[in-house]
Amino acid sequence: GVSRDLAGRRVLVTAGPTVEPIDPVRYISNHSSGKTGYAIARAAARRGADVTLVSGPTALAAPEGVRTVHVKTACDMLAAAEEAFPAADVAVFSAAVADMRPKEPAARKLKKGEPGADLGTIELVENPDILASLGAAKRDGQVVVGFAAETENVVANARKKLATKRADLIVGNLVGEGRAFGTDDNEVWFVTADDVDELPLMSKERLADAILDRAVQFFG
Ligand code: C5P
Repeated sequence: GVSRDLAGRRVLVTAGPTVEPIDPVRYISNHSSGKTGYAIARAAARRGADVTLVSGPTALAAPEGVRTVHVKTACDMLAAAEEAFPAADVAVFSAAVADMRPKEPAARKLKKGEPGADLGTIELVENPDILASLGAAKRDGQVVVGFAAETENVVANARKKLATKRADLIVGNLVGEGRAFGTDDNEVWFVTADDVDELPLMSKERLADAILDRAVQFFG
């Protein structure tokens, strides 16, 4: 039978990329598919949790039985996550948040040769770090899970994020050259304050359950 070990628990998941407008037709974003986060939201709902999924634009269908909040920008994602976080027992920050956004998106499409339209320069500002911001607000009993997608030194980078973002668990993985983004499986390390576990290659569906299994252990 299906384990209902998350019955009575609230789970917040951020997923997908964010999209940061340059002008009404152009944007800065990344290759995140949202598959991992959606799989976690579905798995948490199947295990009985009350789930809020805050999702950037993806090609995926909103999971059944999950409250899905659609957002575009990092700032919108932060606002939606801030709203759901205080009531969450488990918060999983799987979104690939754009690290920067155009400082002042143009109100009209930028065009070549127009006075004042310098297509060679976009002034950028840093986006808020949603995980770090909410990790800093973490209260006793809340379990916070983050990700570290790295091209090298996965475990060392994950350890740093555990501390700087006040996460309880960082799921580290290698990215680049066909790894992780948009694929259906993933090979990861679970990094906590006490240990490092290297997991075997598994589907994002099984990984979702493995992440929730690990998160539930923090409830004792
Ligand atoms: O610092 P870095 O982007 O590598 O950290 C990745 C982790 O932090 C992921 O869990 C991601 O969802 C989260 N993050 C965030 N807001 C940002 C950047 C990253 O929530 N602006």
